[in-house]
Amino acid sequence: MTAATSGLSDRGSYMKVDGKHYRTVWMQDDSVCLIEQNLLPFEFKLFEAASYRDTCTAISTMIVRGAGAIGATAGYAMAQAFIEYGDDAGNIAAARKQIENTRPTAQNLFYAVERVYNAGQQSTQSAIREAQAIADEDADACKRIGELGNDLIEDGQHIETHCNAGWLAFVDYGSALAPIYAAHNSGKQVFVYADETRPRSQGARLTAWELGNENVPHTIIADNAGAHLMSLGKIDMLIVGSDRIAANGDVANKIGTLEKAIAARYYGIPFYVAAPVSTIDFDCASGSAIPIEHRHPDEVLYQSGPNQDGRPEQIRVSSPGSDAINPAFDVTPADLVTAVITDKGIFRPDELITLQS
Ligand code: MRU
Repeated sequence: MTAATSGLSDRGSYMKVDGKHYRTVWMQDDSVCLIEQNLLPFEFKLFEAASYRDTCTAISTMIVRGAGAIGATAGYAMAQAFIEYGDDAGNIAAARKQIENTRPTAQNLFYAVERVYNAGQQSTQSAIREAQAIADEDADACKRIGELGNDLIEDGQHIETHCNAGWLAFVDYGSALAPIYAAHNSGKQVFVYADETRPRSQGARLTAWELGNENVPHTIIADNAGAHLMSLGKIDMLIVGSDRIAANGDVANKIGTLEKAIAARYYGIPFYVAAPVSTIDFDCASGSAIPIEHRHPDEVLYQSGPNQDGRPEQIRVSSPGSDAINPAFDVTPADLVTAVITDKGIFRPDELITLQS
């Protein structure tokens, strides 16, 4: 694979797989290239979406997932729609709607689609340039989050994180994991407890895989083990990502985050959220207005993994005949958040409103 096909932009990228630099998403000719995250950590494979429709499918089936990565991918999808339809406003508007309907919670998706849609009113080339700028800005913002967040981490600390808010969830670097990578790379001894994060196990599959690639000491814990470890004094801080932050500082993130925040408050442990400013929805007054995605019950009723031949297989792990509900995100009230680590600085949740431009 050439540098271009591995997503190495002109300005390079940070994360490596088997010694080769990758971004999570990039555009090559008219296609959007992605790391197939449903196959990780068992198989590393790339997925090429030739049209905005294929890119929509990649977002909704979670071939690509995580707020920043969804945002950059949606921006590229909007650019693909301009490539396909040019100045056909009706089809462009329908494509925009289809892209926006893929996943409702991640603010970065709406942020990116709007920017590329507006740029596309000039020309298709402007739309493509804007989508590329969004991806580059996402990588830069995460790098900065890492630098700023590193100051909060002391040598020897044990950090719990939920879901995957690493580089796979963005274009590069990650949000919650960026300060951990920065701390590790600056010589601090850090240890990470990665919540398994049922039902899709992004922590056990993706965060653990990322941390292993970077040689960061870590272990996977069951979702219900966090409070116990906190009660034993084994966790010094939590850092999680966010899919959308309301203007009042309420934070939507992967289901289960709220329970961690409540337990952290009870035990007096700092609870940090790491997110670029592009994740803040200043039009959303509070967390109760954040749309929460509900996904298919089968994600709860079944687990998937490689079979003996290494092919992905689903097995039922729940009582036959029982149904399930599957809310994908929850909202942590601002009051439970110690601070938000953004690319523009570290803020108390009630100070975020000052970032509105
Ligand atoms: O359903 P996912 O895997 O897209 O959810 C990802 C998360 O909840 C992350 O923690 C979140 O996107 C914040 S970091 C990008």
